[in-house]
Amino acid sequence: MSAFDLVIRNARAVTAADQFDTDIGISGGRIVALGRQLAAGSQEIDAAGRYVTPGGIDAHCHFDQPTGDGSVMADDFVSGTRSAACGGTTTVIPFACQQKGQSLRAAVEDYHRRAAGKALIDYAFHMIVTDPTPQVLEEELPALIAEGLSSFKIYMTYDALKLDDRQMLETLAVARREGAMAMIHAENADCISWLTSKLIAAGHTAPRFHASSRPMLVEREATHRAISLAELVDVPVLIVHVSGREAMEQIRWAQGNGLRVYAETCPQYLFLSAEDLGCDDDFHGAKCICSPPPRDKANQTLIWEGLENGVFQVFSSDHAPFRFDGPDGKRVHGENASFDKIANGIPGVETRLALLWSEGVLAGRIEPQTFVELTATNPAKIYGLYPRKGSIAIGADADLVIWQEGDHVVSNAALHHNVDYTPYEGMRLRAWLALTLSRGEVVWDGQTPLAGAGRGEFLACERPRPALRRRRQEELAL
Ligand code: URP
Ligand code: ZN
Ligand code: ZN
Repeated sequence: MSAFDLVIRNARAVTAADQFDTDIGISGGRIVALGRQLAAGSQEIDAAGRYVTPGGIDAHCHFDQPTGDGSVMADDFVSGTRSAACGGTTTVIPFACQQKGQSLRAAVEDYHRRAAGKALIDYAFHMIVTDPTPQVLEEELPALIAEGLSSFKIYMTYDALKLDDRQMLETLAVARREGAMAMIHAENADCISWLTSKLIAAGHTAPRFHASSRPMLVEREATHRAISLAELVDVPVLIVHVSGREAMEQIRWAQGNGLRVYAETCPQYLFLSAEDLGCDDDFHGAKCICSPPPRDKANQTLIWEGLENGVFQVFSSDHAPFRFDGPDGKRVHGENASFDKIANGIPGVETRLALLWSEGVLAGRIEPQTFVELTATNPAKIYGLYPRKGSIAIGADADLVIWQEGDHVVSNAALHHNVDYTPYEGMRLRAWLALTLSRGEVVWDGQTPLAGAGRGEFLACERPRPALRRRRQEELAL
């Protein structure tokens, strides 16, 4: 009888703290031993000469999320989690989105039905709070947080989703009281709608004007306001999908002044720019429409610096899958719809880790340990999944990635999502994923997705330690 179900031999293991050469002994889906010359496993994998990192946690992705405008997300929990697994991600946290007028619990129950029996890898949920009625704030939200949905997103833009400042304060006060992590989409809705009407009136309708309708100021103002509201309530918050300098300056200011403001950025802000939104007669730019929009090369450089110097704690995909062709994706409002009618969001759940490993670690911009922090350990801590997820440690789930260095050209034909394009088509990378293990099971062997639909488990999240408020001397009566 073997000592382990599986042993990974000769790994160059990377955690958020260290790199070390080790064998990894796995039994019952968990890491049970780390050390040299471990006893035999029933199965053995040789990782000699290769880095092994914790399976990625994609803490911001959208699968099968109802949209309300007729558009349909191309990825459900089967294709979305398959794509994630093939890209080295072993845990996803998509969003159960409340529709205005709907109970939050009904939104969560609906989302459970969409995921159950489908997900290939483990998953948790964030909530999106769009209608903070007394019933939601006093009963549903506290109960759902206690049941393991310990984070929620608040929007400051999009008519169907946004909260006003008063509603934000009331919702943040619940996060503070209950110990949940509040995530904020920070863009000023009125600035966007005013600029949009001016642009449309002037006949500027092409996809590239999406960026003109959401300049950095719009993000900066909302980021500052979100930070101020969180400071007033005295609650930690996380600003999602930060695109560049102006929002970063607000975040750095807050962090420097002792406020617990966390921040997330995404591949699109490192690798895309407003130029990718095309020219006046080019609808292909719709493929890169997301909010906030990609900025310019100088901002890409600043985002790289923020990943390296600690402004950002989390690197997520914000995978929002809409097909370019067909009636219910990017063109839901017609072949050449104006920029404000094009479905927002770009795909990226499968390319997130390889882009950052290749252009971040192997290109010498960030340390391997920083990569692990940003893609696995910090998301696990910030969303209450640590130490089960997010590290290579005894007792943790055996969610692991083995890297294969060598030339790899990104091609949508080789990806596993259900979207008909990738914004990174043709990019030359220095590595790709040789193998993904989810709870000790090979779910991607470098060639073929191997997991069956429904093997993924729902993860109830703890209240995250980084969301715990610090006591102030003059406690607010909230
Ligand atoms: O454009 C984006 N980012 N779409 C996804 C939804 C969101 O706001 O994260
Ligand atoms: Zn958002
Ligand atoms: Zn998103």
